[in-house]
Amino acid sequence: MYTQSLDLPGQHADAAQASAPQDEAARQAAFDACMAADGKIEPQDWMPQAYRKTLVRQISQHAHSEIVGMLPEGNWISRAPSLKRKAILLAKVQDEGGHGLYLYSAAETLDASRDDLVDALHSGRAKYSSIFNYPTLTWADVGVIGWLVDGAAIMNQIPLCRCSYGPYARAMIRICKEESFHQRQGFDALLAMMRGTDAQREMVQDAVDRWWFPVLMMFGPPDAASTNSAQTMAWGIKRISNDDLRQKFVDATVEQARVLGVTLPDPGLLWNAERGHYDYRPLDWDEFWRVINGDGPCNKERLATRVKAHEEGAWVREAALAHAAKVAEREARASRAAA
Ligand SMILES: [Fe+2]
Ligand SMILES: [Fe+2]
Repeated sequence: MYTQSLDLPGQHADAAQASAPQDEAARQAAFDACMAADGKIEPQDWMPQAYRKTLVRQISQHAHSEIVGMLPEGNWISRAPSLKRKAILLAKVQDEGGHGLYLYSAAETLDASRDDLVDALHSGRAKYSSIFNYPTLTWADVGVIGWLVDGAAIMNQIPLCRCSYGPYARAMIRICKEESFHQRQGFDALLAMMRGTDAQREMVQDAVDRWWFPVLMMFGPPDAASTNSAQTMAWGIKRISNDDLRQKFVDATVEQARVLGVTLPDPGLLWNAERGHYDYRPLDWDEFWRVINGDGPCNKERLATRVKAHEEGAWVREAALAHAAKVAEREARASRAAA
């Protein structure tokens, strides 16, 4: 969706040389002025290597998270409790696959190769969101993922709609609209269970108890320990700090939990009138780093499933390439005949 109509870096090197400032300092100054004016950088614009590298890392990690994020819920498609819930879950999991594709395409506009990105994921070199390494034990987990995981994703991603890199910002606008549907369907599924039997209510509470703290860690390490934040903020990639986003999420979710009738598993979750926010318990960052670095409950299973799906899909990629080659050959033949 991004690569077809956009100029690519290097594609118009001659034209760029003729019109762009000649020296590095002038190009850097033009980039800095664009950042200062809160402007947008497009694929054909000059950008510092570090900016390009940071974007490729962030966008590809985001793409990997969308694709791996299909797995915990995908497990439940065949076990959804009704036709309606099954249709909703199918649509949601397909949306996540689409998000991954928009984002890989956005990364490709930065000269990243899709094969390299996928290889980095499959070999364990690339990171993806820690949250998808937790198991989905019951149907209530699917609802809680929608309500809390997609809810946290929205909080994280809305500021990215204003990101300084055009293709990423535009991808996020559509993604956020779909994430909003994901969050609502999760809340709705939980509400139905909370209006059901005691056993259903217990199932929801148990799922909330297990997911709450891992969800809060989705916003990333505390600001004091977040090494890249200052630079990504200066570049207009990140707009709101990890801790501020986490706080916004906590403040918004407390009221939703009350409507739902569940208890968030933190006795320290109390309104602080002085701060104008809810206080919450310190998070277990050792657990976060353990899971990010490969030792969560499902890391090995998730990667193995991804690699298997990629290998089993090889015939689809080969067929698509063979078809594209045939079409190109046919078109070339037709244009030779017309000439
Ligand atoms: Fe998504
Ligand atoms: Fe989602």
